Amino acid sequence: MSGHSSYVPSNGFTRWIDSRLPIIRLVHDTAVSYPVPRNLNYFWTFGGILTFMLVAQIVTGVVLVMHYTPHAEMAFTSVEMIMRDVNYGWLIRYLHSNGASMFFLAVYIHIFRGMYYGSYKAPREILWILGVVIFLLMMAAAFMGYVLPWGQMSFWGATVITNLLGALPVVGETILSLLWGGYSVDNPTLNRFFSLHYLIPFMIAGVVILHIWALHHVGQNNPTGVEVKDVRKDTVPFTPYATVKDVFAMVCFCVVFAWFVFYTPNFLGHADNYVRANPAATPAHIVPEWYFLPFYAILRAIPSKLGGVLFMFGSIAILAFLPWIDTSRVRSMDYRPVAKVFFWAFVIDAILLGWLGAKPAEGGYIIMARICTFYYFAYFAILLVLGLFETPKKLPASIADSVLASSKGHGAPVLAGAAAAPQTKG
Ligand code: HEM
Repeated sequence: MSGHSSYVPSNGFTRWIDSRLPIIRLVHDTAVSYPVPRNLNYFWTFGGILTFMLVAQIVTGVVLVMHYTPHAEMAFTSVEMIMRDVNYGWLIRYLHSNGASMFFLAVYIHIFRGMYYGSYKAPREILWILGVVIFLLMMAAAFMGYVLPWGQMSFWGATVITNLLGALPVVGETILSLLWGGYSVDNPTLNRFFSLHYLIPFMIAGVVILHIWALHHVGQNNPTGVEVKDVRKDTVPFTPYATVKDVFAMVCFCVVFAWFVFYTPNFLGHADNYVRANPAATPAHIVPEWYFLPFYAILRAIPSKLGGVLFMFGSIAILAFLPWIDTSRVRSMDYRPVAKVFFWAFVIDAILLGWLGAKPAEGGYIIMARICTFYYFAYFAILLVLGLFETPKKLPASIADSVLASSKGHGAPVLAGAAAAPQTKG
């Protein structure tokens, strides 16, 4: 897809710039003339939404830091001051805390979209693995960010999770003392987490650039999973088609985001985090943020501490191998009727794990968590085997053909968009 540039400087000034630093050409080739499959649905707007959320988190974070004090004696009070005394401090903080949740909501939709449409398959393996790296970095950033207000959940969440790393053989103790900066979670830990929480989003931004570079090199997948064959028939230019759709989706997403911020800003948080950290009083239930719950459920489902840690990290690491685990030659689940059933069972399984992560690890809950953990990993084994035996549905000959078929079904004019769309080079 990364073919020759179609940019032509329109005047002397842009010609002068183009021959010295072809930055306008870069923007034009990636965001204007870049050809996108004409059949993309709204699930393809989440990459844009994620980019927007990353910028929003960095901007609100940088403003919060202007008022926040990373010290165990002052952190909690400085956050309360942001909420009460700083002009619009409450807004910036609620945007940032709910923004983290919205960011994870979008990334989960983005990941499940990739899994449903087989976007990880060749030649998009590196694009997918970069995504898994981003996901891990997001989790690290969110975990460390939650510690900063130095409330009860901050402190005890950090204590429980960092202690787990101590179970790792050989390196465990070293990692633990490096993270803690002492013998328990304390002021040096808060300082380290603050420093890393500020750094990681910029690392994410760097990996996102690689992610989008890889994407633009191989071109986007699409709901049929059939590659672009004829750029003139199968694609439309990014601007205005994808730009307008992305902006519309972003506005709708922001309405939901704003609803949380303005109507129920603490719904996704935990009341205990409005109580200052107290190392002498353990809360009754230590619960992480909702976006960690499925992994927390896996951790607690395994009877041994080390086993739990390995399965928890394994549940993310296994995603990186998906391009090779899934043996089917068909990408999209739309054409894999049997695999599709297992896929939706996997989605329900992940949601159930999330629910179980918030329940006490006892009785029926723990049994359910074990069954769900088993299916989580079994899904990958199923994909491995199923691809060798299943009979997929007949794929359309091309993207244009599939659009043509669905337009006919709806009585719409055949390829009306194609006639209207300016044609682009690949
Ligand atoms: C900060 C987080 C992320 C950002 C800003 C981001 C950005 C994007 C953008 C702009 C696109 C193109 C538009 C689209 O397909 O929606 C994209 C595509 C893609 N992303 Fe991400 N992404 C992020 C995280 C992830 C993660 C965590 C994964 C997987 C683990 C992932 C896997 C993919 C794949 C496979 C595609 C290609 C989709 C296709 O062509 O069908 N991304 N991403």
